[in-house]
Amino acid sequence: MTTPTTPTILTPLPMRGRTARNRLWLPPMCMYSVDAHDGVATDWHVLHYSARAVGGFGTVIVEATAVTPNGRLSPADLGLWDDAQVPGHRRIVEAIHAAGSLAGVQLGHGGRKAGTPPWRPDSAAGARTTTIEGWDLVAPSAIAHPGHAVPRALTGEEADAVVRAFADAARRAAAAGYDVVELHGAHGYLIHEFLSPLSNTRTDAYGGSPDGRRRFALQAVRAVRGAVGDDVVLDIRLSATDWAEGGLTGEDTAELAPLLVAAGADVLHVSTGGNVPARVPVGPGYQVPFAARVRAAVAGTTTPGGGEPVVVTVGVITEAAQAEQIVATGLADAVAVGRPALREPYLPVRWAHDLGVNDWQAAGLPIQYWRGAWR
Ligand SMILES: Cc1cc2nc3c(=O)[nH]c(=O)nc-3n(C[C@H](O)[C@H](O)[C@H](O)COP(=O)(O)O)c2cc1C
Repeated sequence: MTTPTTPTILTPLPMRGRTARNRLWLPPMCMYSVDAHDGVATDWHVLHYSARAVGGFGTVIVEATAVTPNGRLSPADLGLWDDAQVPGHRRIVEAIHAAGSLAGVQLGHGGRKAGTPPWRPDSAAGARTTTIEGWDLVAPSAIAHPGHAVPRALTGEEADAVVRAFADAARRAAAAGYDVVELHGAHGYLIHEFLSPLSNTRTDAYGGSPDGRRRFALQAVRAVRGAVGDDVVLDIRLSATDWAEGGLTGEDTAELAPLLVAAGADVLHVSTGGNVPARVPVGPGYQVPFAARVRAAVAGTTTPGGGEPVVVTVGVITEAAQAEQIVATGLADAVAVGRPALREPYLPVRWAHDLGVNDWQAAGLPIQYWRGAWR
């Protein structure tokens, strides 16, 4: 139950027949914690994601999960390329659900940035950008990301097969019980590499023009929608701009957004960058204008499942009042908070307090912890 004084970020978020209890998202964040290198979720994943669900996030998106073994960003990534990986994901989903959040998973393929060692603070400097020897590195074109090995260009048939791999992984995600399937179309990974003229110089149907470069992303959305049916929320994360001369711009992404919705996407999760080295003006809410532009581009449209598309913004949103202002003024429908939630899993509970909410039950926050409320 919400009242007229409930902060907007704590009001429910309906998406394709499912409703998140609030508008705060945990964005996907790689844990690089599959020590067995088999893509199977571990106790760490169950604990990490359920802690953020207990902390009050309305929607919890599990980290980039590979649709093929060579699409992993590191050998320690989660996977959904094999049925044997479904039960581990089901454990994560059940734990998130038990704490009252919607569960999502980000499906990805690292393209030319795949196959690097798992990142840890104690890794040798630059290890993140060194391709592991012998990794089958594939991309739209044989153009290396600086510091990484030169990938081989996928043939058209191979690109079709990766689209099918996204669909198969999405079917497994639905079988595991996820409410939301997010395609990783951002940060210089495969889908983004197809979209950007800086990494896609193909002359076949998967390149050569904006329509050609958008083909892979649109095919993936259509294939995933077909695989998961009408029930699951389909989200795609985009880098709205490459922040670089000759690269993707906010305008390109605003043009693409309604096409993705028509293809079956319910949610657009707007990030930026990652495809090429760039000077990025990082600061509080620096990506919000890109989300607002996407939201304006899809305003008034209806997703095939009914309802308006949902636009999520992310990036250096660190204060409750800042998040509230973004959503209350209609710049985005929801706010994702990443790094602050690594150090503070109960961040939504604290933000509710910061915004003067004392009725935890009404706000859908863990009533078991009420006696620990700030007084
Ligand atoms: C440890 C870590 C891992 C990340 N892994 C992913 C990922 O798997 N997929 C993705 O799209 N973004 C990933 N990101 C980016 C975050 O989802 C988020 O967009 C970024 O941290 C900016 O938001 P923030 O300022 O709230 O942290 C990662 C970020 C961090 C800090």
